[in-house]
Amino acid sequence: MIPTDRTPPHVFFSPCKIVLGIGTAERVADEVRQLGGGKALIVTDPGLAEANILKPIEDGLTSIGIPYSVYDGVKPEPPSEVIDHGAALFRAGGCRLVLGVGGGSSLDAAKGISILAGNKGKILDYMGVDRVPQRGAPLVLVPSTAGTGSEVTRVLVFTDERENVKNVVFSRFAIADTAVIDPLLSVGMPPQLTADTGVDALVHAIETYVSMNATVFSDFYAEKAIELIARWLPAACAKGTNLEARTHMSLAATLAGLAFGSGGLGAVHALAYPLGTEYHMAHGRTNAILLPHVMRFNLPGSPGKYARMAALMGKDAKGLSPMAAAGQAVEAVKELLRAVRVSFQIGDYGIPRGDLPRLVQGAMKQARLFVPNPRDLGEEDVRLIYEEAY
Ligand SMILES: [Fe+2]
Repeated sequence: MIPTDRTPPHVFFSPCKIVLGIGTAERVADEVRQLGGGKALIVTDPGLAEANILKPIEDGLTSIGIPYSVYDGVKPEPPSEVIDHGAALFRAGGCRLVLGVGGGSSLDAAKGISILAGNKGKILDYMGVDRVPQRGAPLVLVPSTAGTGSEVTRVLVFTDERENVKNVVFSRFAIADTAVIDPLLSVGMPPQLTADTGVDALVHAIETYVSMNATVFSDFYAEKAIELIARWLPAACAKGTNLEARTHMSLAATLAGLAFGSGGLGAVHALAYPLGTEYHMAHGRTNAILLPHVMRFNLPGSPGKYARMAALMGKDAKGLSPMAAAGQAVEAVKELLRAVRVSFQIGDYGIPRGDLPRLVQGAMKQARLFVPNPRDLGEEDVRLIYEEAY
């Protein structure tokens, strides 16, 4: 609904320019030129550097005479020192612009390096909301997966290696100037990675949709993302070269990013993070495991929206009670997870049941994510959700 009284205003964050389409990686150099050119620091991970994903981008830069160097030291769930080190390379190399290419970790590292290029200190100094004083280096982000949505958000997530916890920086100065989304870059993803990243996008859309911080803007993007992912993720997993499916998944992940970048996340991410930090599981997979269980718990908090979600995912809830209609959303998600061969039981991943108390402790460190969750939850609720998910 649109605010017609003095409730909190509906705020929307987005990059200045989004370019989406097959083959757009070849145009990245032109986008760099439009931002004033100068030497670019490409920020990526070693796997991507080897997989030739950078080639169309590097060829483009070379063809119009834009110098660049490559920092391919990004690790999954990047430790803060990866960002600090990248910023040192940026300065030592005389760079002017940051060009992040890859999955969420590379894009988040690129955001952090861009911030540190214009602000003193280390990335840990800017943890939290709106603590970055000013804009850093111009920033272009090019995702190679269809999931994170990082290319369009003001959030960067990294690991604080001192405490082995995830930390976040929220800043308008982490928003890219330009996001270039080329579905061709995602064609090489194996089915499992396609599923994990695609489900991450679904979790972003679902968590934002039912969030207490949802806005008219985030609802609009979240609904479309949920509908597209339910329709196209199985096809993208079944046939990696299906460009129609890849393009729709790229679009959906970006729409989900636009949604959660303004509307926020919730308890799925909070309960998933400890699986990532304790067992180094892929972020999307950890979200997938918790998704149906947290949804089941959350249903009473937002039955109308869960029912609408079920309809967007193809469920017919006519004649059902409001709670039964909402429950259809959980069934739709389970069917989708089965279709893309993702188990949503913790026990299937070799994690001993005796580790659950440690997971509870880890999730409680993310209690900030419980605030916008549509149902209040305390430590005992968290324990019960993990039990059910086991
Ligand atoms: Fe996520």
